[in-house]
Parts: sequence; C-alpha cells; structure tokens
Amino acid sequence: MEIWKMMIESVLMIGLVIVLGLLAAIVVETFRRRFHNVYLEARLVFEDPNSLKKVECPYIDDPAKKYISLIIPAFNEERRLPATLNETINYLQQRSKKDQSFSYEVIIVDDGSKDGTKRVAFDYVRKYKVDNVRVILQRKNQGKGEAIRKGMLHSRGKLLLMLDADGATKVDDLEKLENQILALAKAKGQMTSDSSEGIADIPIVAFGSRAHLEKKALATRKWYRNFLMKGFHLVVLLAAGPGVRDTQCGFKMFTRAAARKLFTNLRLKRWCFDVELVYLCKYFQIPIIEISVNWSEIPGSKVSPLSILNILWELALMSMGYRTGIWSISTRAS
Ligand SMILES: *[C@@H]1O[C@H](CO)[C@@H](O)[C@H](O)[C@H]1NC(C)=O
Ligand SMILES: *[C@@H]1O[C@H](CO)[C@@H](O)[C@H](O)[C@H]1NC(C)=O
Repeated sequence: MEIWKMMIESVLMIGLVIVLGLLAAIVVETFRRRFHNVYLEARLVFEDPNSLKKVECPYIDDPAKKYISLIIPAFNEERRLPATLNETINYLQQRSKKDQSFSYEVIIVDDGSKDGTKRVAFDYVRKYKVDNVRVILQRKNQGKGEAIRKGMLHSRGKLLLMLDADGATKVDDLEKLENQILALAKAKGQMTSDSSEGIADIPIVAFGSRAHLEKKALATRKWYRNFLMKGFHLVVLLAAGPGVRDTQCGFKMFTRAAARKLFTNLRLKRWCFDVELVYLCKYFQIPIIEISVNWSEIPGSKVSPLSILNILWELALMSMGYRTGIWSISTRAS
C-alpha cells in the first residue's frame, strides 16, 4: 500500500511542477511581449529597383493616399506567388481603367523566406513600379501575423485588405467586403453622399468567412481534423467571445481607422493573431461584418494537427496579457 501512495504522490508532485512551470513560462512570456506592439525594426524605407532610390515610407498615422492597399504575406511562396500576383494586379488595373478615382498598391511582405520569394516579388516591383507594388523584407521568419502587421502599418490605402499568397480566394471577392463596408458606413449615417470620401475615418472591419463551406468540409476531412476544429472553435469562444464564426480566413478588410487601432496594438505574431484581432475589435467596439467568400482548398496548406499546441500557447498568452492588464491597449486618436 505504502508504495502506491508514494507513487501517486510523486506523480501529483511532477504534475504540479509542470503546471507551475507552464504558468511561470506564460507569465514571463507575457511580460516579455508587453512592448512588442510598439517595436518596429527602425523606420523602414522602400527601395525602388528601377532607380535604386529610397522611397519614403508611409505610416498608418499619415492620411490615406490610395483607395486600397492589398497586403500579401509570403513565406517560401516563390512558386505560388506569380499566379496570385498576376491575377491580383490584372484585376486592379482593369478596375482603375474603368474608374479614374480608383487607386491601389500591393504590398508583399517577405517573411524571411529561404527560397526565391524576394526575387519574384522585386520582379513585380520592377515591372509595375514602386508606387504600385512594394516589398517589405523581414530578415528572419516572424510569422504571418507580424508580416501582416508590418504591411498594414506601412500602407497608404483608405481600405486595407489582407490576402493569402496562395490565391485561395478570388481577388474580386474583395468587392463583397468593400460593398458591405461602404453600405454599413452609409447606414450609420457617417458618410455623406455616395462617394467613398470619408470611409478611411470610420472604423469597420469585414472578415471573409468560410463558415458556409463547413458542412461540406466536415464530410470530407479526417475525423481528427474535425475534432481539432471543434476544439479550436471552443477555445476561440473562450478567449475572444462569441460573434465570429470563422476567425481564421486569410481574407480580411479594414478601414484605415480600424487598422490604426488594431495593428498598433497587435502582439501575437503567428497562429492566433486573428483571434486577437477579434478581441481588439470588441474592445474598441469596431463592427465586424462576416461575409461568405469562395475558397479553394489549395494543397500544401501549412497547418498541421501539431499546431494546436502553439495555438493554445498563444491564446494563453493573450488571455494572461489582457486580463491582467500587462498588455496595455493604446487608444490612439484617429
Ligand atoms: C504572369 O504574367 C507574366 C507576364 O504577364 C507571365 O510571363 C507569367 O508566365 C505569368 N505567370 C503565371 C504563373 O501565370
Ligand atoms: C462561389 O463561386 C460560384 C461559381 O464560381 C458561385 O456560383 C457562388 O455563388 C460563389 N459562392 C460565394 C459564397 O461567393
């Protein structure tokens, strides 16, 4: 009997040590990240590969100079990037031909790629000029959330769209998000007339959503993937609250005012930055519109079942950071 008691006790002790260790790690990491939202590697400059001149780098506090900015995070996307960029720029050029007041920029954020992503991206800057296509380089891989944050903070659009480099969404779906944002702004009576003049200053967010595809996906995916999915939804619900059915879709649009508030506060860099965005939207009472978009499952998707541990880790950091006030939220005037 004695020996059983001893064994149970030591198991409990080990368990306790692990739990305490984990808690300590969460607290330490939360503290370490408390200023990560303000930290930017020096003031960026864009390089013009045609003239080799430096181009002044805008910041999200500056007034908008373009109608829309498209931010594409890219990590080892040498192969899939060209097709996406061709389609995207083709769409943008068509539209600006039809509508004189439509102006755009595409910002590719190379997230420390090891392949030729940088070369491919700069080919497009060379071809379409630095006023329309720009590249931000992260020296080492820091995560999709951080790449998007950099892109957003240095963009010039009234509307800012993030989209994936693999072309999972058709770029013209952006009109759905854009129209809903404009419609909501008008409905709230904060925008005069039909022009999109004041849209930059009204904080609104539109999330692309794949929730309508869920039934079909449930039927075709492996059971453990579905299980992880449900678990993930539950954890998101606990961390950020209800209201958004699909937080993880890579197709989201922000007005400049919304982006200013959200991305000057964002701290998660990799797995759950979308969940943090939802949390921050609720904090600032920024309306979130969820809109169904078409989604083609492209093979080579990078999320593995193992990522669930990373997801839990980031959500734990976020909960600790905000609930204890270690991560302070700056409410910048717009
Ligand atoms: C992209 O467009 C360029 C020139 O318009 C073409 O040479 C290239 O093959 C296209 N790439 C893809 C993947 O469609
Ligand atoms: C998706 O695309 C198909 C055809 O390309 C279209 O019929 C359908 O309405 C689209 N669904 C959504 C939600 O946009």
